[in-house]
Amino acid sequence: MNANPIVSDETFSEKEEDSHVKIVNLQKVFPVSRATLFNKKIENYIALDGINLDIKKNTFVSLIGPSGCGKSTLLNLLAGLDSFTSGEIFIEGKHLTGPGPDRGVIFQNYALMPWLTAAGNIDYALETACPELSPSQRREKSRYFLNMVGLERSMDKFPRQISGGMKQRVAIARALSINPTMLLMDEPFGALDALTRSYLQEEVLKIWEKNRVTALLITHSIEEALLMSDKIVLMSSGPSANIADIIDVPLPRPRIRKIIEKNSLFIDIKLKLEEHLLRETRAVEESS
Ligand SMILES: Nc1ncnc2c1ncn2[C@@H]1O[C@H](COP(=O)(O)OP(=O)(O)OP(=O)(O)O)[C@@H](O)[C@H]1O
Ligand SMILES: [Mg+2]
Repeated sequence: MNANPIVSDETFSEKEEDSHVKIVNLQKVFPVSRATLFNKKIENYIALDGINLDIKKNTFVSLIGPSGCGKSTLLNLLAGLDSFTSGEIFIEGKHLTGPGPDRGVIFQNYALMPWLTAAGNIDYALETACPELSPSQRREKSRYFLNMVGLERSMDKFPRQISGGMKQRVAIARALSINPTMLLMDEPFGALDALTRSYLQEEVLKIWEKNRVTALLITHSIEEALLMSDKIVLMSSGPSANIADIIDVPLPRPRIRKIIEKNSLFIDIKLKLEEHLLRETRAVEESS
């Protein structure tokens, strides 16, 4: 049992060596304070309960489920940004030890530092993750990754001087620049207009298809999950949210939206996912 991120050398047996993330019977409880007439009461909210999940190396997995079911909670636990209540998380066979440069995180709200330029934001991440690099090597790396997302000419602009889509591209470049073995993405395209969204989805997909890493994407978009993933993990509604189903997406790669959307398998899985989301969303409404 390793409820908090503490270093451990425990490893898996050889047959599990292609596992990147293994989650065993994970539970996350939030203490919530409720004000009654005379005093304040602390109650426990069981956000996640009995989560078991195995993510193979270099696969692309999407996490989909009704709003509030615990997707971000799970991603934050995998990023090592929060501690879990019980259960176990293994990253490449070792107990989770907290945040690390092996995991690049892309948050929904970009999470850029407003006082640093686009290049400065990447430089800052590199300074922490790769202390062996000289300032000029960091600058070169920042340029390389900004170029990769089409932003080399904006490298000296501050977040307030660039659009939402550009900010999200900087956040993607920053996550990739530290050379992570895993990308954790929490609705990275959620706040973007439809055109920028589909452009960036295809960009990230192209980058991923070229430099395969393990990717976990939280999304509310069934089409996005189908376009990008090898597997789609469906979560049930909370409290005590769990994994309701895991669906394989054996569509050929590289995937081109216009072609893939006409594939009969795409259409079948889309229907199944729509039914699941509708069922779980109704469950949330009926319980509230
Ligand atoms: N720090 C916290 N304290 C108390 N409850 C929390 C905390 N963080 C999250 N929760 C609760 O845990 C549940 C899961 O929240 P979470 O943000 O993980 O949902 P989500 O699936 O990411 O939702 P969305 O799709 O809307 O982003 C929610 O009911 C939320 O209110
Ligand atoms: Mg969320």
